[in-house]
Amino acid sequence: MGGVTTRPVLASRLRGFGASIFAEMTALAVSTGSVNLGQGFPDYDGPAEVLRIAQEQIAAGANQYPPGTGQPDLRAAICEHQKRFWGMDLDPDTDVLVTMGATEAIAGALLGILDAGDEVIVFEPLFDTYAACVSLAGAVLVPVTLRPDAAGRFCFDPADLRRAVTPRTRMILLNSPHNPTGTVFTPGELQAVADTAVEHDLIVVSDEVYEHLTFDGLAHTPIATLDGMAGRTVTVSSGGKSFNTTGWKIGWACGPAPLVNAVRMAKQLFTFAGGTPFQPAIAAGLRLPDSYFSSLAADLQAKRDVLRDALAHAGLRPYASSGTYFVTADVRGRRADGDGTEFCRQMPAGCGVVAIPAGVLYSPANAAEGRHIVRFAFCKQMPTIEEAARRLAAWK
Ligand SMILES: Cc1ncc(COP(=O)(O)O)c(C=O)c1O
Repeated sequence: MGGVTTRPVLASRLRGFGASIFAEMTALAVSTGSVNLGQGFPDYDGPAEVLRIAQEQIAAGANQYPPGTGQPDLRAAICEHQKRFWGMDLDPDTDVLVTMGATEAIAGALLGILDAGDEVIVFEPLFDTYAACVSLAGAVLVPVTLRPDAAGRFCFDPADLRRAVTPRTRMILLNSPHNPTGTVFTPGELQAVADTAVEHDLIVVSDEVYEHLTFDGLAHTPIATLDGMAGRTVTVSSGGKSFNTTGWKIGWACGPAPLVNAVRMAKQLFTFAGGTPFQPAIAAGLRLPDSYFSSLAADLQAKRDVLRDALAHAGLRPYASSGTYFVTADVRGRRADGDGTEFCRQMPAGCGVVAIPAGVLYSPANAAEGRHIVRFAFCKQMPTIEEAARRLAAWK
C-alpha cells in the first residue's frame, strides 16, 4: 500500500517513441492564440448525408458490437469503391477487414505478419506510428530517405532502395500520397518498389489514406494493381481523410485472404471490433458520386496554393506537395542555423502560426536530414488558411 514502483515502467520496445513535440506545439498554439497548422485534421465536417446516417444509426440502436471483420454492407462498399476507382477485384468475405482507423490496420499488419528480427523498409520522413509498431513487433526498421529533387519534390534514389534489401527483409511499408512531403509516387517509382518486392519475395503494406487527395491532375495508383503485387500487398485506408471524419476511426485493410487473415489475428486482440453506427455512414460515403471526391481534392488544392504562396513570400521555401493535407518548407531562409524545432517553438510568438518540425519524422540516425524542414497542414477552412497567410505576410 502506498509504495511507488521504482523500476522503469515503459516497455523497452516503446522507449524513445514520443509524441511530445505534437503536444508541445498544440499547447503553444492555444497559449499564444496562434493559427494551428500543426495538427493534421480538418476543422470542417464531412458530407451531411454521411453525418446524418451515423446520427440515425445511434438513434435506431446500432450501439452494440459489430461483426469482428466489419459489417457486411461496409465490406461490400469498400470492395465497390476499390473496383470503381482502382479496378481492384476483392471478395468482401475474405479480402477485406474493417479496422479502427488505418492506424489499427497498419499495427495489425505489422504485428500479424512480422517476426522478431525481420527487416522492414520504410520511406522517411515517416508517419509517426510506423517506427513504434515495427519496434513492438520486434522487427527492425530500415529507412530509405526521400530527398527533394531540383523541383523540390521529395523522391527516393532507386539505388538506395536496392541497397536497403538484405536476406532479412520481409516487408516494404509504403505511404503514397505521402505524409508529410505530399509526394504522390509516380508509376515509375511504384514499379521500382514492386520490382524489389517481387524479386525478393517481400510483402508490401501500402498506406493509402490520402488516396483521394491528389492535386495538379496527378492520379493515385494503388501498388496492389501493378503486375505481381495483388498477392503480396495489404492495402490500407480509412474514411477519416476522405469524409473529414478523422475521429470516427473507421479504416480497412484489403488484400489476399491469407494476408488479411494475419491482420485480423492481431486486430482482434486490440479492439476486436468497434464503430458500429459509423460503419453504415462510411459505407454511404464510399458510394458518393465521383464528383464528391474530385471536389474534395480541388478544395484542398486551392488551400495548398494559398498556403504555399504565403510561405514563399515569408521566406520559407516550400517544397512541392501534390497530395495529402500537408506542405513542407525549408526554414533556412529565415533561420540560418536551420534548426526547425527551435523555429517552430518561436514561430507562434513571431507570427502567430504553428507548424511541426519534420526532423521528428526521421529515424534518429537520419534526423539531421530533416532538421531544417517544417510541416504545415492546410486541411483547415479557407478563412483559417487566409488568416495564416496574412500573418505570414506581416511577419517582419
Ligand atoms: C499516413 C497516415 N497513415 C495513417 C493515418 C491514420 O489514419 P486513421 O486516422 O484512419 O487511423 C494518418 C493520419 O494522420 C496518416 O497521415
